[in-house]
Amino acid sequence: MKTQVCIVGGGPSGLMLSQLLHLKGIDTIVLEKHSREYVLSRIRAGVLEHGFAELMREAECGERMDREGEIHEGFLVSDNGAMRRVDLHRYSGGSSVVVYGQTELTRDLYDARDRMNGKVVHNAEDVALFDLNTDKPYVTYRDGDEVIRIDCDYVIGADGFHGVSRKAIPKDVLREYERVYPFGWLGVLSRTKPVSPELIYARHERGFALCSLRSQVLSRYYIQVPLTDTVEDWSDDAFWAELKSRLPDEVAARMITGPSIEKSIAPLRSFVAEPMRWGNLFLAGDAAHIVPPTGARGLNSAASDIYYLYHAMVDHYAKGDDTGLENYSAKALARVWKAQRFSWWMTMLLHTFPDSIAYDCKLRQTDLDYLFSSEAALASLAENYVGLPF
Ligand code: APR
Ligand code: PHB
Repeated sequence: MKTQVCIVGGGPSGLMLSQLLHLKGIDTIVLEKHSREYVLSRIRAGVLEHGFAELMREAECGERMDREGEIHEGFLVSDNGAMRRVDLHRYSGGSSVVVYGQTELTRDLYDARDRMNGKVVHNAEDVALFDLNTDKPYVTYRDGDEVIRIDCDYVIGADGFHGVSRKAIPKDVLREYERVYPFGWLGVLSRTKPVSPELIYARHERGFALCSLRSQVLSRYYIQVPLTDTVEDWSDDAFWAELKSRLPDEVAARMITGPSIEKSIAPLRSFVAEPMRWGNLFLAGDAAHIVPPTGARGLNSAASDIYYLYHAMVDHYAKGDDTGLENYSAKALARVWKAQRFSWWMTMLLHTFPDSIAYDCKLRQTDLDYLFSSEAALASLAENYVGLPF
């Protein structure tokens, strides 16, 4: 088989790029390791920054998001029971975020690819990348006993943190930066009315908690737990009791609880791989960088990669201009690191660290007090949360 751009990974990054390139007449094949059902069963975060929502619209996939997604112009921060609001709209100069589940967004992207007869291969086993440093790269995968080869101009590594693409970059070229946090988030999805119309980020001496939502009948809640905990350690009752204990009394009192329909623990990690280009391989999204979920930056860091790659590919094919491809790694990394800084900062600010010395605890408290006493600090938080420009 032959294509112009072979995309490894059928998550939001890979599908979005494939869809955008298709609309500009550039041919792609997406190779996804798992089945569509598996990809669409993964529960992921649900806050989209303005720029990502715009990309969905440009990709002709924004209709359901615009109909069913909720515009949020602010969120709440509870500090050991005292609640304050961050007015995103005011402090970001009129911007906002869209609350819309990433699983739904992925479904919309798949539907769009189907509508346009996009080539998405599921259950592509043993994907391997070859000759990336030449002008004739190719990718192989296995379908049963058959090995299939795809010749292409470019390979996009959009296969997430555990994918194969990043590993194709030689060890003496690749540099990895990582911070692993000493806790995870235990998340519960429940068919209950959300306790608050806006998200509540709660800092508490027992640990961080987050009240989020997918719709007015579907709630998503999280609590910080030690890395040693397992899902089996947490009955639904124990989860609700712990969540309530970390929230202001009046919020806990009106919390509607119910059976969990999904419960999982995710460790928190910050990670960046450099460079994001090697030869004709370009990394995008989680394949190149991971953020802890605190600042809701995961998908949003991927968005700028996709935006830069999309424009670079269009410039290459339509105008013979390779400047965008040449600058991709440096340009993408500059924004990636800003999202890293923000996610790290929000994580440090709101969590309880098991090994903190008293001095660090005082500084964290001061950081939060400063935030709510300074218009400049609130503006900085707001511009990062709604998304820095691409
Ligand atoms: N071959 C083919 N596909 C692979 C391989 C492989 N060897 N390894 C992984 N994949 C697939 C995964 O099954 C997954 O569907 O690549 C896809 C990567 O998708 P994501 O992990 O969702 O990464 P990405 O598309 O970059 O999405 C950005 O934003 O909110 C964050 O982390 C969240 O996934 C989200 C990310
Ligand atoms: C979510 O709804 O899953 C969510 C929202 C905001 C975050 C992280 C996760 O910061």
